Amino acid sequence: MGGRLLNKVALVTGGASGIGAAHAQLFAGAGAKVLVCDLQEELGHTVAEEIRRNGGEAEFFRLDVACEDHWKAAVADAVRRYGTLTTLVNNAGAFSAGGVEVETDEGWARLVAVNQTGVWLGMKTAMPELLKSGNAAIVNIASIYGIIGSPGAIAYHATKGAIRVMGKSAALEYARRGVRVNTVFPGVIKTPMLGDVPEEALRALEEAIPMGRRGSPEDIAYASLYLCSDEAKFVTGGEFVIDGGSTAL
Ligand SMILES: NC(=O)c1ccc[n+]([C@@H]2O[C@H](COP(=O)([O-])OP(=O)(O)OC[C@H]3O[C@@H](n4cnc5c(N)ncnc54)[C@H](O)[C@@H]3O)[C@@H](O)[C@H]2O)c1
Repeated sequence: MGGRLLNKVALVTGGASGIGAAHAQLFAGAGAKVLVCDLQEELGHTVAEEIRRNGGEAEFFRLDVACEDHWKAAVADAVRRYGTLTTLVNNAGAFSAGGVEVETDEGWARLVAVNQTGVWLGMKTAMPELLKSGNAAIVNIASIYGIIGSPGAIAYHATKGAIRVMGKSAALEYARRGVRVNTVFPGVIKTPMLGDVPEEALRALEEAIPMGRRGSPEDIAYASLYLCSDEAKFVTGGEFVIDGGSTAL
């Protein structure tokens, strides 16, 4: 397979579902070898199988992004299978709607562990292999709610805001060492993450989006595809908002 990500080896977290699955499929279609990482084994295997059926290269690896030992094993697996690691998409994430007085200690700790510590552990563990490759890219998936506020979801806002500055800091640290780091900020996207939100509330959410609809997982993955390709070789520390105009309001 030819394509914009030829010779790239990508590790995608949260790859079993939604935005992560779209990354895995699009990246493989563009020529990358993809390690689909997630806690959801059955769905993750299905994503990898579908990629292989379509002529791409992908395998599933069970990874809890909050666990450093899992990360070490996942990175080692990618290198053992494909010889290198050039590309990391830190996409796995969890949501909690709890506001300032409602969020629990456990809920707060879980979101920090998955959304914030998970992104740091991913960058930390993958970095030695990314540096060895000499031409690598990391994309961290935040949220527009890491830039702007909304009532409630205090832990989600906190962790997504943290991803924003972690990306800038890492981008500066590695700017001259062959690893680019960028952050993508999705607006409201049609994925299972909003599965529990009642239909009426979803319609209200869509009505508030200037384009009048939610985005698709592919809308986000196309931005990462550019950022992980050599077309973006001068792009690091960047912020890419993909939200149908929501933050332009
Ligand atoms: N859907 C939206 O509207 C939206 C908006 C902004 C940002 N995002 C972000 O996009 C990313 C992907 O979300 P999505 O909408 O595709 O949701 P999703 O629920 O479809 O996918 C999230 C995936 O992450 C996995 N995951 C959760 N915790 C994990 C862990 N500890 N280790 C490994 N995998 C784990 C889940 O199993 C799931 O497959 C998240 O970081 C989310 O915060 C989503």
